[in-house]
Amino acid sequence: MVEAVAATRSRDSISNTLLVAITLSLVCSLLVAGAAVLLRPKQLQNAAEYRQSIILEVAGLANSGDPATAFAAIEPRMVELSTGNYVDSPAVEGFDAEDAARDPHLGVRIPAASDIASIRRRARYAPVYLVRSGDAIEQVILPVYGSGLWSTMYGYLSLEADGNTVRGLSFYSHAETPGLGDQVDRPAWRAKWQGKKLFGADGEFYLEVIRGTVVDISRSGASDSRYQVDGLAGATLTGRGVTNLVHYWVGPHGFGPYLAKFRENAGKQP
Ligand SMILES: Cc1cc2nc3c(=O)[nH]c(=O)nc-3n(C[C@H](O)[C@H](O)[C@H](O)COP(=O)(O)O)c2cc1C
Repeated sequence: MVEAVAATRSRDSISNTLLVAITLSLVCSLLVAGAAVLLRPKQLQNAAEYRQSIILEVAGLANSGDPATAFAAIEPRMVELSTGNYVDSPAVEGFDAEDAARDPHLGVRIPAASDIASIRRRARYAPVYLVRSGDAIEQVILPVYGSGLWSTMYGYLSLEADGNTVRGLSFYSHAETPGLGDQVDRPAWRAKWQGKKLFGADGEFYLEVIRGTVVDISRSGASDSRYQVDGLAGATLTGRGVTNLVHYWVGPHGFGPYLAKFRENAGKQP
């Protein structure tokens, strides 16, 4: 009887309790860390597949059968942003634009006056995705990102062969407020981008997410509704962020040099 009480006391001792707690914590953290490591490749694959689905969506190819087959028909190329030339290295596969932006060799600081998208640095290179119809290029899809109100918004912008007409714009990642800034994800709002023009005949960038609703009458000059997209109710600042990030990436510090060459070769094999 006395021995049984002593054994219970020793089991309930502080050192025993601590030992059990520490062992349990160690086992649990090993399990969680192991699961995180094991699931990482699957997470990366899912993220890549999600980005591919957004690329298909902006290209208007989301409903053209098996996504993997549809994506395989799109040609990824790497572009050196400063020259606008295609390059073979770095490879598109596995290229992480944000990692590259931070890298002292692969990234550059964006001069404050050019940093319309508020991203501070960008990679020297960026992938583009070409959609062909036969040999002719039908669309080019550009990765774009920049600051919204609360978050960096990442997406893809698809342009027609004139390098000026928008086919689609969709975001695959952002943390804008549900019900306000996240209206950028509404299919009805995304549909409003199709056919909008980036640049006027004078070569200036005019596209803007306006406040309120676009008045659908064709007027001359910069206020033409072809350069305007409906605003997001209660989320003017997110809308401004979208205007700014598109402006930056199609501008001279972004894909501008590439788009100039792309327009020259529009519809021809590069
Ligand atoms: C909790 C909270 C979350 C908000 N989230 C956003 C947002 O995601 N995007 C945005 O543009 N404005 C957001 N706003 C509103 C902005 O603070 C600002 O009032 C608004 O952008 C002005 O746009 P409006 O003129 O269309 O109302 C939020 C406001 C609050 C209080």
